[in-house]
Amino acid sequence: MVRVLFVCLGNICRSPMAQAVFQRLVDDSGLSSEVEVDSAATGPWHVGEQPDPRAVESIESRGYEIRHLVGRQVDPSDFESFDYILAMDRTNLENLRQICPEEFKPKLQLVMDYAELPGHPEVPDPYGGGEEGFDVVFDLIDSAVRGLLRHIRQNNLQ
Ligand code: 4NP
Repeated sequence: MVRVLFVCLGNICRSPMAQAVFQRLVDDSGLSSEVEVDSAATGPWHVGEQPDPRAVESIESRGYEIRHLVGRQVDPSDFESFDYILAMDRTNLENLRQICPEEFKPKLQLVMDYAELPGHPEVPDPYGGGEEGFDVVFDLIDSAVRGLLRHIRQNNLQ
C-alpha cells in the first residue's frame, strides 16, 4: 500500500480538493486497493469542519464531491504512516519540517514538484480571495496529481 497525504493550512480548501481529484484518478486507474489518500491541515482552526463552500462549488462544477470530507490537523503519527506528504505551499512545507522527525523529512515535498508546469512551484492560498482563485487551485492540483500518479506507478507499483 502506498499512502499519500495532502497538506495545506486549513484542510478546507486546497488539500481536500487535491484528495478528491487524486482519489478519482486512483479509482479510475484501478489502483484503489494499492493507493490510499488523505488530507490534513497544519493549523487547528477548521478541525471538524466541512470544506469551504467556494471549494465545494468550484470542484462540483468539475464533477467532484468533497462535502463529505471533514477537516483534521496533521498528527505526529502521519509522518511515519504516510509515504508521500505533499504540501501545497512553502509555508505549509516549512511548518511540516518544524514538527517532522528527522528520519521522515525526505517524505516532505511540495505537491507542485510533480506537475509539469514550470513557473508554478506552489498552489496559492485561495482563502482570502475570490471564487476565481479556486479554479486556479483546481488546475494546478489537477496537473500535479496526474504527475504524482505517474511517479507512483513507476517508483512504487512496479
Ligand atoms: P486551505 O485554505 O489551507 O487551502 O484550506 C485556508 C483555509 C483557512 C485559512 C487559511 C487558508 N484560515 O486562515 O483560516
